[in-house]
Amino acid sequence: MCGIVGYTGSKDAYPILIKGLQRLEYRGYDSAGVALMNDKTTLHKCKGKVVDLQNHIGSGLTTGTAGIGHTRWATHGEPNDVNAHPHTSMSGDIVLIHNGIIENYDSVRKELIHRGYTFHSETDTEVLVNLIEEIKKSEACSLSEAIRKALNEVIGAYAIVVMSNSEPGTLVAAKKSSPLVIGIGPDKDYYLASDATPIVEYTKNVVYLEDGEIAEIIPGKDLKLFTIQKQNVTPYIQELELQLEQLEKSGYDHFMLKEIYEQPRSVRDSLRGRLNLAAGLVHLGGMADYEQKLLNANRITIVACGTSWHAGLVGEYLIEDLARIPVEVEYASEFRYRNPIITEKDVVIAISQSGETADTLAALELAKSKGATILGICNVVGSTISRTTHGGSYTHAGPEIGVASTKAFTSQVTVLSLLALMLGNKKGSIERSKFLRLLYGLNEIPEKIERALQTNDLVELISAKFKDASNFLYLGRGYCFPVALEGALKLKEISYIHAEGYPAAEMKHGPIALIDEEMPVVVIATKGPSYEKVVSNIQEVKARKGVLIAIVTEGDTQVKEMADYTIEIPETDEIFSPLVASVPLQLLSYHIAVMRECNVDQPRNLAKSVTVE
Ligand code: G6P
Repeated sequence: MCGIVGYTGSKDAYPILIKGLQRLEYRGYDSAGVALMNDKTTLHKCKGKVVDLQNHIGSGLTTGTAGIGHTRWATHGEPNDVNAHPHTSMSGDIVLIHNGIIENYDSVRKELIHRGYTFHSETDTEVLVNLIEEIKKSEACSLSEAIRKALNEVIGAYAIVVMSNSEPGTLVAAKKSSPLVIGIGPDKDYYLASDATPIVEYTKNVVYLEDGEIAEIIPGKDLKLFTIQKQNVTPYIQELELQLEQLEKSGYDHFMLKEIYEQPRSVRDSLRGRLNLAAGLVHLGGMADYEQKLLNANRITIVACGTSWHAGLVGEYLIEDLARIPVEVEYASEFRYRNPIITEKDVVIAISQSGETADTLAALELAKSKGATILGICNVVGSTISRTTHGGSYTHAGPEIGVASTKAFTSQVTVLSLLALMLGNKKGSIERSKFLRLLYGLNEIPEKIERALQTNDLVELISAKFKDASNFLYLGRGYCFPVALEGALKLKEISYIHAEGYPAAEMKHGPIALIDEEMPVVVIATKGPSYEKVVSNIQEVKARKGVLIAIVTEGDTQVKEMADYTIEIPETDEIFSPLVASVPLQLLSYHIAVMRECNVDQPRNLAKSVTVE
C-alpha cells in the first residue's frame, strides 16, 4: 500500500526519491508524486506508475537537497492527478505525504471550511495538511509543534512526512499504526521510508518510529524524537540485516519467478538452527519461552490475512494433528470486530509476511488487551507485528517483492511444521519414532522443492492450453485443501481469472454445477490417507466432462489414467505435502499470467503490505 520516501542532506534529493519509490513499487499503488525543497517547494504528481511520474516531470525542475515522495493506493477519492500525494496546504507553505486513513477527516474538513479553507482533492490527507497550517498560523509555532498539536486532534492511522517553506531542509515525520523507518547516513543525512528497502543502499543504521512518536529531522544534526504528548525519546538505532542484492531480480524476468525458485533456499533458511537431527529435537528460539503457555492454552487462535491465512490453515491441521491442542484460524478482519471470547489462557499467533497488515495487527492488539499471550510468525525483521508480540519466530525467507506471496507461504508453513513438531514432542503426543521420521522428512523438503521446480517446462506447456480459460476450480482434501485455496488465490491475483479453491468432497454441494468441458479443474491428488477419496472426486469431475489437471506423487498410475494432464512431484509425508504441492501451482499461475501479459509483480488493485483496514 502507500509508500513513503523522504531525504534531507547534502545530496541531490530527486534521484534518491525516485529510486526509493521504485523500490516501494512492490507494495501496490495507483499514483505517484514528489516534492522538492528549493527556496520554496516544487511539486510533481500524477496518476500511474513511477515511470509515468518521471515522464510527466520530463525536464521540469528537480533540484533540491530535501524532498519527499509518495506512491498512493487510493482509499478516499479515485486515483487521479489531484488526489495523488504530496498535498499542499492552502497557502502553499506546507507539503505532506501520508499513508493511512484519517477517520474524522469529515468533521475536521467542515471546521476548516468554516474557517475559510478550500479543498481541491477528495483526500483525507489534504484535510490534515490544512489542519497543521491552521495551527501553525494561529498559534505561531514551529512546524513540529503544529504537527504534534494536529495529531492530537485526528483519529485514525498515519505515517506522515512533512516539509515547510518556512523551515527549509527540515523534515518532520510521525507515525501511528502505519510503518515508518528513518535511516541515518554517515554525514547525518537522513533517509525515510515505509520500509527499509529504499534505505539499505545508503545506510544500515535505522530507527523504526514507534506509534505516537514524532521525529524532527535536520541534516547535520542529531535525530530528535518526541511523543505527541511532548515527552522526549532517545532514538534506538538498529542495524539492518537486509542485503541490497536481495532486492534485485538477479536475471529472472520477474520477482515472483525469482522468489518461486528461491524456495529450496528460503525453506532451508527457515529450518536452519531449528531442526537438530543429531540430537533429535526442534528448537524454535522465540517460541521456546512460551512453550508451556502453548501446551496449556485453552486454544490457539491463528489470525492472518490472504496467503498467510492459508498458511494458518495448514498450521491448524499440523498443530491439532501432532500436538493435540485445539486451534482456530481466523481472518484477522473478522476476529477483531466479532467480539471473540479470549482470555489469559489463550494464545493468539499472528502470521504475516510483512508484519504490517493493519487488520492482523489490530486483531493482535485486541487479544493482548484481553490478556492473551500473543506470538508472531513474521518475515520482515523489525516489523510492527514482530515488535508488538510477546515472542515469535521469523520465517527468514528474505525480502519478498512480488505482490503474490510464494516463498513467504512455504516458509510460514515450515515454521508452523517446526512448531507443531516441537509441541507434539514436548507433550508426548507423537511417538518418538514418528517424531524422528518427521524430522528427517522435513529436512528433505528443500531438496524435494528443488525437484518440484523441475516441472516448470511441463507446467508452462499446460499453462499455454489454459491461459484463455475464464474459470478454474482447485480441489484438495486434508492438508491439500489449503493448497487448493492458495493455488486458486495465486491464479486470481495475478492472471485475473476467476478461480475457486474447494475441499474436494464439498464440491458436490455447489461447484459441481459449474463443471463442463470448459472448466479446468486442478486436483491435488498426492499419496496420503485420502488418496482413494480424491480419486472418487476425480471420477465425479470426469463424469461431467471437466478438464483435469492433477498434481500427483511421482510414480502414480491411477490418477494418471484419468487426468488430462498430470504433474508429478516427489513423495513426502502427507503433513509436508503443502510445501511441495504448492510449487507447481505457483508456476501455473505465473506462466498463465505472463501469457496473458499481466503485470505479474504488481497486479492491479493489489498491495503487498495492506496497512489500512
Ligand atoms: C496482501 C498481499 C498478500 C498477503 C496478504 C497478507 O493481500 O497481497 O500476498 O498474503 O496481504 O499479508 P501479510 O504481510 O500479513 O502476510
